[in-house]
Amino acid sequence: MKAVQLTAYNKNVLRALLSLKVIEKENPIIQTDEVLVKMHAASCNPSDVAFIQGGYNIIKKLPAVPGFEGSGVVVDAGSDSKDMVGKKVSCFIQDDIDGTWAEYFKLKKNSLIILDEAMDLDQAACFSVNPFTAYAMMEIAEIRASKVIIQNAAGGQVPSLIRQLAKIRQIETINVVRKVETAEKLKAEGEKYVLVEQDEKFSDQLKQLAYDLNATTAFDAVSGQNSGLIINAMPPDSELIIYGGLSNKPVSEINPLDIIFQNKIISGFNLLDWKVELNEDGYEKIVSELQQLFIKGSLKTIIQGEVKIDNIIQGLKTYIGNMSNGKILIKP
Ligand SMILES: NC(=O)c1ccc[n+]([C@@H]2O[C@H](COP(=O)([O-])OP(=O)(O)OC[C@H]3O[C@@H](n4cnc5c(N)ncnc54)[C@H](OP(=O)(O)O)[C@@H]3O)[C@@H](O)[C@H]2O)c1
Repeated sequence: MKAVQLTAYNKNVLRALLSLKVIEKENPIIQTDEVLVKMHAASCNPSDVAFIQGGYNIIKKLPAVPGFEGSGVVVDAGSDSKDMVGKKVSCFIQDDIDGTWAEYFKLKKNSLIILDEAMDLDQAACFSVNPFTAYAMMEIAEIRASKVIIQNAAGGQVPSLIRQLAKIRQIETINVVRKVETAEKLKAEGEKYVLVEQDEKFSDQLKQLAYDLNATTAFDAVSGQNSGLIINAMPPDSELIIYGGLSNKPVSEINPLDIIFQNKIISGFNLLDWKVELNEDGYEKIVSELQQLFIKGSLKTIIQGEVKIDNIIQGLKTYIGNMSNGKILIKP
């Protein structure tokens, strides 16, 4: 089969891209409890980019096939899972095995989501991670009784899904972006509250909105000084939940007096830990609810384009150059 192989980690993203090679290798051999998926498409998320830079919490022995997520059809299965053959699936796995940027991918049956026949396989390539993250964020907002939330990196797909779910749940979003053009795009889509972090009045504008609307929950995908600017602008009893480190910088600029005297909290979110807390029925209910929203078209991941495996480097360059345009799918 054809696969993408990472030969060396490199902090410099361009050099990391250049260490990706398209190779021919043997198809994976499955064990009794595994299934073989013929890939329809694989996604590329910021975690994949961080992975090839050696800057993620998953380090695989090299050479390795990258790609944590994707969709496809089960074409072979071990004796434990013969009933799976022919099923449409969405996959997500972060074990030290070859990933989804290949024509075929093997994994354990219990690590994948079996899809409804009506589910679109392009959308399914981005289904296992971001929609569940956005869903979890909405649950957190509801537990915290927040009717208004703040989110940064708001041109990205997790924030986009959060906005889509927030509309269903009648929660308002204050959206923070880094580029004026992304702000214009969100405003043109009808978003009421959009702020640009580079604006010299950003802190004052955010504070005004956060206090006026009582926005006491924020979801932070950026970290660095952005975390401090946001939590400092929020009212007492607020919580900033960090779920991404897109700035590649340590969290900074936090006013310690607010944390001590205004009961402000900074916490972290990790999807895999959140899933572990759910019982099997609870998880299956969420899988079904989210799939139905995708099938009805009420939820959608924006996909800016697709590339064949052979053009992976060009595809990743396009994605990294304009992440707010949407995901790029990698197709066999
Ligand atoms: N903790 C978890 O369990 C979990 C689960 C899912 C996702 N995540 C994380 O969530 C984050 C967002 O993922 P996604 O799929 O929504 O990403 P995405 O669709 O690829 O979009 C990334 C967004 O971040 C913006 N951005 C990139 N670097 C930035 C920086 N230094 N400062 C400000 N904005 C920046 C991009 O804006 P430009 O267009 O301006 O580049 C783009 O709008 C990632 O960090 C991902 O790893 C975490």
